[in-house]
Amino acid sequence: MGILHRLVVASLPLVPRAVVARVARRYIAGERIEEAVAKVRELRGEGCGATVDVLGEFITGVGQARETCGEYLRAVSALRDAGLPVNVSVKLTAFGLLLDEGECARLAERVVLAARDAGGFVRIDMEDSPCTDRTLAIHEALRARGLPVGTVLQARLRRTPRDAERLAAEGASIRLCKGIYLEPEGIAHVSFEGIRAAFLEVLGILLRGRGRVAIATHDAHLVERAESMLRDLAVPRERYEFQMLLGVLPGLRRSLVAKGHPLRVYVPYGTEWYAYSTRRLRENPEVAGNIVKAMLRGG
Ligand code: FDA
Repeated sequence: MGILHRLVVASLPLVPRAVVARVARRYIAGERIEEAVAKVRELRGEGCGATVDVLGEFITGVGQARETCGEYLRAVSALRDAGLPVNVSVKLTAFGLLLDEGECARLAERVVLAARDAGGFVRIDMEDSPCTDRTLAIHEALRARGLPVGTVLQARLRRTPRDAERLAAEGASIRLCKGIYLEPEGIAHVSFEGIRAAFLEVLGILLRGRGRVAIATHDAHLVERAESMLRDLAVPRERYEFQMLLGVLPGLRRSLVAKGHPLRVYVPYGTEWYAYSTRRLRENPEVAGNIVKAMLRGG
């Protein structure tokens, strides 16, 4: 991380929201579902699929969880009514996983049933390690009923190869990512190379399994290695896709689409855009320059 980037990241809380909004615009579709639908349609025109995420991770009451569930139900209807494929990604803490697990499971089920009725699919995102077992349990209960649902495994966690073996053998649909949450060394790989090696190990397990695999990374090295694994194992197109976050490395995304790989973009929208955007900005080495430019343009 360069000095300017470090400095800007440290002072992000002091940067006016209007400036953050301007720089962060590329990472979110907007505040309203109509904007997400428009973005999904635009991506479809570029040959990409999409999975829509309603922003709103940090909740303090079950009431908020129900509101988020209601927004997901509106998103499912809006995508269906627009004639677009219905695919949404949910975070279980936004449905109250840490407040009331039973209610969380019921809210997740409502979204999954609505998606199923619209011929769609729900991906259950993975959050930090206190959520792992609970998230896998809710995913497995829904999947056991034959519902269209998949989840996420994080290469960073040392337990992941075991989870991958089991889920791959069962034919579950799994998105593999590095894992965004910093976890203690006892349970996680912490070095950049260690996480990369673990990603490739788990990818091998998943690709040799029976389920669909979503390869979620912008790491060009991992993308290249994944492409050669797909070739060596002769994995058919129906069994895998690449996934990337909206606004991150669109050039890499376009090059994969041009080569004929299926690719899905994660499209977040909602009023709770600030925390998501600042997280993206913290990870982006270009952030310093972009924020300084936006400040100079007058917020
Ligand atoms: P890495 O962080 O090494 O990034 C590779 C390169 O991509 C960087 O060098 C940089 O150039 C570029 N890049 C990365 N982030 C950027 C940014 N914000 N702006 C601009 N450039 C950037 N995690 C999790 O814990 N649970 C989950 O459910 C999900 N879900 C998920 C879905 C999808 C579709 C994706 C792509 C990612 C996730 N993640 C996630 C996040 C994931 O775990 C990881 O934190 C990020 O993808 C960054 O890791 P990379 O593999 O991209 O590599």
